[in-house]
Amino acid sequence: MADAKGIHNLITYYAERGRMLHRSLESVYERLRDFQVCVEGEQVLGCAALQISWKDLGEIRSLAVAPSQRGKGVGKILVRRVAREGRSIGLKKIFALTYEPEFFRRVGFVDIDREALPTKVWRDCVFCPNADDCKEVAMVMELRKGGS
Ligand SMILES: CC(C)(COP(=O)(O)OP(=O)(O)OC[C@H]1O[C@@H](n2cnc3c(N)ncnc32)[C@H](O)[C@@H]1OP(=O)(O)O)[C@@H](O)C(=O)NCCC(=O)NCCS
Repeated sequence: MADAKGIHNLITYYAERGRMLHRSLESVYERLRDFQVCVEGEQVLGCAALQISWKDLGEIRSLAVAPSQRGKGVGKILVRRVAREGRSIGLKKIFALTYEPEFFRRVGFVDIDREALPTKVWRDCVFCPNADDCKEVAMVMELRKGGS
């Protein structure tokens, strides 16, 4: 519970810069169990949420690393933790919709055709200011048994 406001601040910071969708503090509390965090003392250095989409598919959402902490491996650790959790609950793959495809390629995702994702994935697009000119890249990571 102590991390919720720090998570919300990070998401808001990047949402205000058009890098991800806004999330209300209420929605962070509602989805708090989806989140992985990296913390130092009381400061949230990074966060990422795993949202289950379907029987074998999850989505990594709200991945954000504090500006002062970027490039130190925090994002990679968060993706690994999300992948580990997804694997442990029986998911086969995790997808991302992102403006940072190069980062996701570096951590094990591959590009996919957006059409390959279930249509319900797009229901949040109505809240996005860029819905009519979306430049997000769809990517997926296969979760192999025994991966770290
Ligand atoms: C994208 C983001 C999560 C990456 O986190 P990070 O902690 O800075 O990344 P890491 O230090 O873990 O980097 C892991 C690897 O990816 C590479 N990398 C990181 N960001 C990159 C970028 N923008 N372009 C290319 N490579 C990148 C790193 O060089 C590193 O490579 P290596 O393993 O070969 O050394 C972070 O920059 C961020 O919060 N960005 C703004 C919010 C955002 O766009 N989130 C994604 C929403 S889907």
